[in-house]
Amino acid sequence: MRPLVLPLNDTDPTRIAAALAQRLDAEAGTLETRRFPDGETYLRVHGAVQGRDVVITGSLDRPDEKLVRLYLLASTLRDLGARRVILAAPSLAYMRQDRVFNDGEGISARYVAHWLSGCLDGLVTVDPHLHRIHTLDEVYRCPSRVVAAAPAVAQWIAAKVEAPLLLGPDAESEQWVAQVANLAHCPYVVLEKQRHGDRDVEVSVPQVERWRHRSPVLVDDIVSTARTMIAAVRHLHAAGLPAPVCIAVHAIFAGSAYHDLLRTGARRVASCNSIPHPSNLIDLHPRIADAVRELLALDAPSNRSPS
Ligand code: R5P
Repeated sequence: MRPLVLPLNDTDPTRIAAALAQRLDAEAGTLETRRFPDGETYLRVHGAVQGRDVVITGSLDRPDEKLVRLYLLASTLRDLGARRVILAAPSLAYMRQDRVFNDGEGISARYVAHWLSGCLDGLVTVDPHLHRIHTLDEVYRCPSRVVAAAPAVAQWIAAKVEAPLLLGPDAESEQWVAQVANLAHCPYVVLEKQRHGDRDVEVSVPQVERWRHRSPVLVDDIVSTARTMIAAVRHLHAAGLPAPVCIAVHAIFAGSAYHDLLRTGARRVASCNSIPHPSNLIDLHPRIADAVRELLALDAPSNRSPS
């Protein structure tokens, strides 16, 4: 039976549901949603579900409301007899609070993973923020696939930027920047970052003056307040380098962050289409479809993990 693909979000602005349905030769289903007068969510699935694999797709940026919807939808699909419920979420939420940083805090990454593992039979995402948690298997109990954005980002850089020098804004970014630089055949430098608060970030640039003949390209996995990128852009400017191209895998751009970054002097801002944003220039849908296909090819579990 052909799988069914359902969008998690009402508008599906990047049209990922349509793209996956086409690439997986699946049926595109429809989800009816509305709000009850008290603010709760109403969901109704249109399309036959019994005995089928169902792929829910949509990004989990600005996640709190979406997580409730996802839980309701996945649970409904299981009650309707879905063989497997697979989530293809190009951006996965709650991965950055991956340890206790201050007394009184918890580890949201673990709690959310535990919650979602109870209603999913598979997970596909793009470059989740894996740092102190090393693999999704450490926290998710369902089979998962991680799509690397690096090949698509490297391809874009090779086509659009002459003589690039890749820059990662902090040690955490090295895993992505090194991979992109290797694929784009260019040098890379990792900067040093100190975060003093949500919007208070200091970045220092170690000896970049010798790269003045190169076009700097800043690459980060998540751009949220853009304070990290903005601090890096300022330091590059102070070091006498040309205005950088700024690339985000996951373009959250909270509030005025996007315009603040452009105003600071970024030459160009580009992002992957893991989160809908006007800067989306790098398409990840083909790679996400390949990863979902891999999960669909696995044997369906005979019994599911408990909710
Ligand atoms: C941090 O660990 C991430 O890799 C990004 O550097 C960070 O999320 C960027 O956040 P912001 O845009 O708020 O500075």
